[in-house]
Amino acid sequence: MEYKVEKLRVNYKTLEEFKRFKEYGLQELSMVEDLEANIIDNDSESPFYGIYFGDTLVARMSLYRVEAKFNRYFEPPHDFLELWKLEVLPDYQNKGYGKALVNFAKEMGLPIKTNARMKSRGFWDKMGFTSVHYEMARDRGENPLFWFPEGFPIEKD
Ligand SMILES: CC(C)(COP(=O)(O)OP(=O)(O)OC[C@H]1O[C@@H](n2cnc3c(N)ncnc32)[C@H](O)[C@@H]1OP(=O)(O)O)[C@@H](O)C(=O)NCCC(=O)NCCS
Repeated sequence: MEYKVEKLRVNYKTLEEFKRFKEYGLQELSMVEDLEANIIDNDSESPFYGIYFGDTLVARMSLYRVEAKFNRYFEPPHDFLELWKLEVLPDYQNKGYGKALVNFAKEMGLPIKTNARMKSRGFWDKMGFTSVHYEMARDRGENPLFWFPEGFPIEKD
């Protein structure tokens, strides 16, 4: 099944939908505050992408392009995408929504970094993500996983 991935706008409707996701936290709260204080306009750009089933937002992820100069993971330095807050609402899991969002990110043609939560590791394995060598000073509590486009020229550590 083909799902339509949409870039989500920051508005009261989207922020209300976000409350249904487990990983609702500081990022969402600061968006609410910025909207209420008119620091950002209604319908501003957000780093979130999502899939709707009818009127309901059922899956979402955050995606951010990190510039090469901040890349501490692979050589030669190159821009990459950081993907976080991938989540599918419980009733919609295992229907391909998670995969559709990850595939959407892959189509941007850049390496992708994510952090696996304990029980989602199997999913990331399936999506072709692999661990980078753990470095305590850099990774601390993180468990960074990467996916690289085919033929991407890197020297992995
Ligand atoms: C993890 C998550 C993002 C995956 O999205 P999803 O839409 O449910 O997964 P999909 O239907 O796109 O699955 C794609 C493939 O990964 C597999 N898969 C999905 N979740 C998996 C998991 N936790 N472990 C191993 N494989 C998994 C599916 O079986 C499917 O395999 P297939 O292509 O061979 O059929 C989603 O289930 C989720 O948000 N879960 C809640 C948060 C979380 O991380 N849960 C894990 C426990 S805390």
